[in-house]
Amino acid sequence: MEFYHKPVLFDETIESLKIQPDGIYIDGTAGGGGHSLAIAKRLTTGKLLAIDQDPDAIRAAGDRLKEYPCATVYRTNFSEMDKAAEKFGLLPVDGVLLDIGVSSFQLDNPERGFSYHTDAPLDMRMSREGVSARDLVNTLSARELEEILRRYGEESNARRIAVRIVRAREKAPIETTLQLAEIVKESVPAAVRRKPGHPARKTFQALRIKVNGELDRLSEGLDAAFSVLRPGGRLVVITFHSLEDRIVKKRMADWCTGCICPPDFPVCICGRKPKAELIYKKGLVPTKKEMEENPRCHSARLRACKKLKETEGAD
Ligand SMILES: C[S@@+](CC[C@H](N)C(=O)[O-])C[C@H]1O[C@@H](n2cnc3c(N)ncnc32)[C@H](O)[C@@H]1O
Ligand SMILES: [Zn+2]
Repeated sequence: MEFYHKPVLFDETIESLKIQPDGIYIDGTAGGGGHSLAIAKRLTTGKLLAIDQDPDAIRAAGDRLKEYPCATVYRTNFSEMDKAAEKFGLLPVDGVLLDIGVSSFQLDNPERGFSYHTDAPLDMRMSREGVSARDLVNTLSARELEEILRRYGEESNARRIAVRIVRAREKAPIETTLQLAEIVKESVPAAVRRKPGHPARKTFQALRIKVNGELDRLSEGLDAAFSVLRPGGRLVVITFHSLEDRIVKKRMADWCTGCICPPDFPVCICGRKPKAELIYKKGLVPTKKEMEENPRCHSARLRACKKLKETEGAD
């Protein structure tokens, strides 16, 4: 299958990175290589490190970038990008891009088990390693499953679904995506089944986030990205749901916070200076036109910041 992903907020992302032809860039989520290719095309003496944890994505991105000797394609988690950049002698960097989440290819390839539309083994591992969604639904307690569905899916029927999963697996292990989707459908009230959207959407999102440790990796990835940036370098992050966006927003706000002394203090005694500056106050969302063309991008948000020189932060 062809690895296809139509990158969301594409022009805005490339613009936000302010690519210099001689700069060094990291694409932490190379996927099908759409953004990576656009970066590579803008480089002359510069370099690109294209990272993904998915071996299929690495093959696709490698193929797409094969004409570009400036690009190194490397399989790792973006939470380890600092080590990867050091390994290839690419420090410090001028820009990092994180286009978080699953690619269309991963969603559309039934074999990967991300989708509740087609029947496939219940997998959901982006890296194709470690514990799968199948392992989780067949081994965790009802309480643990409920907690995952609530925390990562914001699923209000978490308890009913978790109990039903545990009851179903007593008869036979839950092996496939459609088996799970059916169990969820049966557990939610009829009113939920009548609402638009699949009743298993939040359950699948929650399991996917848990299987891939997505929120923890994002948090670590943001710190790794910030640590490799040179002063003036930019970090651009695109997220696809509010749980991820909250993490990015908070971390960027923290970097951008200067003095935290009470306002009635005559002078600053905390000595805190902002380490970064936001490029867009509230982030960017897709245009109406893009949302119509690509329904998957509805909740996408782009946030970007620029690392400041140590002496640059305003008092
Ligand atoms: C939305 S797609 C990126 C698409 C890409 N920007 C393009 O233009 O084709 C997200 C990609 O990030 C990868 N990914 C997600 N979390 C990751 C992580 N923690 N480390 C490395 N890759 C990750 C996924 O495997 C997936 O291929
Ligand atoms: Zn202060």
